[in-house]
Amino acid sequence: NKGKYEHYMQKEIHEQPESLTTTMRGRLIRGGSSKAKSVLLGGLKDNLKTIRRSRRIVFIGCGTSYNAALAARPILEELSGIPVSMEIASDLLDRQAPIYREDTAVFVSQSGETADTLLALQYALENGALCVGITNTVGSAIARHTHCGVHINAGCEIGVASTKAYTSQIAVMAMMALVIGDDTISSQARRNAIIDGLVDLPNKVREVLKLDQEMKDLAKLLIAEQSLLVFGRGYNYATALEGALKVKEVALMHSEGILAGEMKHGPLALVDENLPIVVIATRDGCFSKQQSVIQQLHARKGRLIVMCSKGDASSVCPSESCRVIEVPQVEDCLQPVINVIPLQLLAYHLTVLRGHNVDQPRNLAKSVTTQ
Ligand code: UD1
Ligand code: F6R
Repeated sequence: NKGKYEHYMQKEIHEQPESLTTTMRGRLIRGGSSKAKSVLLGGLKDNLKTIRRSRRIVFIGCGTSYNAALAARPILEELSGIPVSMEIASDLLDRQAPIYREDTAVFVSQSGETADTLLALQYALENGALCVGITNTVGSAIARHTHCGVHINAGCEIGVASTKAYTSQIAVMAMMALVIGDDTISSQARRNAIIDGLVDLPNKVREVLKLDQEMKDLAKLLIAEQSLLVFGRGYNYATALEGALKVKEVALMHSEGILAGEMKHGPLALVDENLPIVVIATRDGCFSKQQSVIQQLHARKGRLIVMCSKGDASSVCPSESCRVIEVPQVEDCLQPVINVIPLQLLAYHLTVLRGHNVDQPRNLAKSVTTQ
């Protein structure tokens, strides 16, 4: 039932304040004024010791689920101190990459049925790793075959393009970082800030969804383009990949997410006065580096669309012709949840305006159960 919406993708984008609330329900424990706040993930509690002792955490997934893990990787590394590596399921299988007993392998999948992810799970089980699932589907193959895991509880996702599952996956993996990370005094303030940020996240998502009309206007400008680049780094490298994936899969427009730190190693050659480029430059530890990326793209006459934190428009925009998308600022590790939303809206409106099928893009299936 689409309710007041025309498409499931649209409904699922706008439902994110509620889906995130459900994802976090019962899992954030708010202590009294003196008591520390904490996170409870019932599905992991019996295995936390093993996870904390592992030599490495390996995230494994495909498509959007892989991107969600990439968005959560920095906070997991920061809070746990454990090396975190990333594997696209098919590539792990192609390489038959080493997986050890001392590894924790985390399988991220909305459907819980993706063939490559499931085969990678079998492979990791045979190699003796602790296998953890993060899935939206209770009773799915991945939920059943992993040793333990967390259901993201985002509710049924019908649109082929994953939207609300992506933001709920990031929220779950941020909570996972909080429960795995040790509770040292030195990290207490940081942890509390993230928990407060999670509690307030649905409100901030509601705020960023108000950009709907602005994204529709932007889509009108971009309707006839051949290509769109999205530059991000740090926490928002994943946002660049995910924004580009949405544009590509539903709007059927070529789009590429680019790690801004790689700009001078090739992508800069593409920049001219015609190619539209989205640069994600919200406030975090990478902000000044992104300001310099904007300057360099501007110097090559790049057609810039800058995503920045509210109030930063004048400090990030190099010229009148630069368009801005101002988003609410949240705790740095949660910012990918906010930043992806204008890009989801942009992909949605581009698709409608270009006259393509929103909920069932050509050649794609909701769950890829064959290799
Ligand atoms: C569970 C209940 C929830 C109830 C809550 C109350 C289920 C599905 N969840 O939620 O309805 O409100 O307790 O305390 O009954 N698992 C895997 N692999 C996965 C995902 C999950 O093995 O990919 C396992 C978990 O380790 C856990 C079980 O499935 O044993 C349920 O996981 P989850 O729903 O995340 O647990 P709770 O949040 O505790
Ligand atoms: C993109 C998309 C796909 C899926 C991928 C993995 O919007 O939906 O890239 O993310 O097929 O699917 P799951 O998460 O079900 O394993």
